[in-house]
Amino acid sequence: MKVLVIGKGAREHALCWRLHQSQSVWGLFCAPGNPGIDQLAKPVNIAQSDFAALIAFAKENKIDLPIGGPEDAMAAGIVDEFEIAGLRIFGPSKAAAQLESSKAFAKSVMREAGVPTADFQVFDDPQAACAYAKSLDGKVVVKADGLALGKGVVVCHDLETANVAIADAMESRKFGAAGTRVVLEEVLHGEELSFFALCNGDDAISLGLCQDHKAIFDGDTGPNTGGMGAYSPVPQFPAALEERLLSEVVRPVLRVMKARAMPFRGVLFVGLMVDGDGINVIEFNVRFGDPECEALMMRFDGDLAETLLACAEGNLTKAAVRLSPKSAVTVVLASGGYPGDYRKGIPIAGLEKIEGSAPSDAKVKWALEKTRVKVFHAGTAMRDPQLVTNGGRVLAVTAISDTLQKAVAAAYQAADMIEFEGKHMRRDIAGKALAYLAGNR
Ligand code: AMP
Ligand code: GLY
Repeated sequence: MKVLVIGKGAREHALCWRLHQSQSVWGLFCAPGNPGIDQLAKPVNIAQSDFAALIAFAKENKIDLPIGGPEDAMAAGIVDEFEIAGLRIFGPSKAAAQLESSKAFAKSVMREAGVPTADFQVFDDPQAACAYAKSLDGKVVVKADGLALGKGVVVCHDLETANVAIADAMESRKFGAAGTRVVLEEVLHGEELSFFALCNGDDAISLGLCQDHKAIFDGDTGPNTGGMGAYSPVPQFPAALEERLLSEVVRPVLRVMKARAMPFRGVLFVGLMVDGDGINVIEFNVRFGDPECEALMMRFDGDLAETLLACAEGNLTKAAVRLSPKSAVTVVLASGGYPGDYRKGIPIAGLEKIEGSAPSDAKVKWALEKTRVKVFHAGTAMRDPQLVTNGGRVLAVTAISDTLQKAVAAAYQAADMIEFEGKHMRRDIAGKALAYLAGNR
């Protein structure tokens, strides 16, 4: 089949990498792609927001499976537009994508579905929001209602921080229109997890559990980012958790969405806080996570195109998912200054040393240890002949091995071989799991 992936980040690079290995795929395209993706898929020079041009391309090239891309495209109705044009596409409709594009909508669905989540209130008036924050002594999470690239959330522990966060979102419009409405909710405690389920509107199957690292600095400190690293599986949680999440969270949500005449199809990404036996949903996303997707695609076993096509056609039995029991870990290399201001266009060196490492290269331990390392491009550009930085998150260095310890060591060894001015990475990706495996928690 011919597949068109829509997007330009490391998530789409990982999807293309896996699709490139799918037996069933003989034509792979990516719009607009990036320098890493362009080595695997034919680049299509159409912006991910230009739905009319994407539809024309898909028709002209007889694409069998377009893959719905990033959240803003889904929130703007890319799936509806393709379907109106008579084309099949993998992903949720605009109405169903509200599970991500409006936190207030997601909360109302959770409430109706009986899904455990933090107590919350929705505000359109900053004074009322500040009064509510005061009643909780400033211990609140302030969330811009709309899409804000993972940066529209501030976890507050005192009233001053809460008031500033409310004013930033609602008065200074730090997140644009996304912050005209805010959701304020109680602070949850525990360990965060990302769960992925493949949904066909009626039912769902698990695509696995991951742990992301949202904060910019080690020890989960500093401002939130889109995600600085991830790993899968997550050994400190029992495998039975996946079944519990399907029955207590995903299926009830699918029932409510269907009853609201907006059945959810595509990947449902459940962001969770887990504390002992207690689970609370923090948020839903309507797509693969980034960097979670990079780690998951390393573990995905089988023909990804067949799986996603079967799901888009509603046939979940055929969409069976097999994940390797091996451990995969992703370490994100970011531009200095991210998630605040950062420079672009800085030369990147060292990638060729990693991608070309052969088992004879004794310095590169992973090459001898059946460990696979792959570097996915997040924000890069080609200024011929030089690869340069072109975003906040630049590269997602991903390794898979038979133990988590080996995967982590290989990912960091590779990450250290890549150089660009201002390069920043967290040094503690998968640290919670490593501590658990070492018996230290
Ligand atoms: P969200 O965009 O809703 O996923 O929030 C981004 C991040 O903020 C989450 O990944 C958590 O780290 C944190 N966060 C969000 N809501 C809460 C909460 N109720 N309690 C504690 N931390 C939260
Ligand atoms: N890594 C979190 C996200 O993709 O939203």
